[in-house]
Amino acid sequence: MNKTVDNWIEVDGRKFLTDIGVRPGQTVLDFGCGEGHYTIPASKLVGRDGKVYALDKDSDILDKLKDRITESRIENVELINESSRIPLEENSVDVVLCYDVIHFMKIDERKLVYDEICRVLKDDGFFSIYPKHHKNNYPLMELANVKLRDIVKEIENSGFVLDRKFTGKLLHDDYYDEGFVLNFKKGE
Ligand SMILES: C[S@@+](CC[C@H](N)C(=O)[O-])C[C@H]1O[C@@H](n2cnc3c(N)ncnc32)[C@H](O)[C@@H]1O
Repeated sequence: MNKTVDNWIEVDGRKFLTDIGVRPGQTVLDFGCGEGHYTIPASKLVGRDGKVYALDKDSDILDKLKDRITESRIENVELINESSRIPLEENSVDVVLCYDVIHFMKIDERKLVYDEICRVLKDDGFFSIYPKHHKNNYPLMELANVKLRDIVKEIENSGFVLDRKFTGKLLHDDYYDEGFVLNFKKGE
């Protein structure tokens, strides 16, 4: 790991997740967890009474994360190798993170994922998304022509309401990026 990633994992990531509302004892799903740049700070923050499910479709990346959590003796993370489907009970998760992931998905797959997230999220939980790579922010892949306001509409069409926006310094890949995440809660 480089120093930036170390600093994020040890200090800034935990602070960021606290700022957006993650609390000790909670159950968090990190959807599209990658190498765990948000999974590991979340696991430290939720602590022994909490749990983090780290889900990714890429088994190689999950192997890397497995090595990292074993080395760090982290015991509250469960890895899930799955694409788009979430093999968890309904109403079982306090927080879902989906950071820098949705540009990989076509619109139908995004809808499936938002519906799945809504299903597993508790009624008083929240869904936090880092919508990188849309039309106005380094456009890429399936989001290259999608505006931010259309992403918000897609998510709201799956039963969510936009609640808050958090702007600040985020880790993107292995560097700091000024950006924002959007927190959604479940609609009535
Ligand atoms: C750019 S990485 C972001 C990793 C991490 N969330 C972060 O911010 O550091 C995107 C990850 O999403 C995963 N991914 C993309 N589409 C997915 C899907 N439909 N189901 C599960 N994982 C997916 C990819 O395999 C990749 O590891």
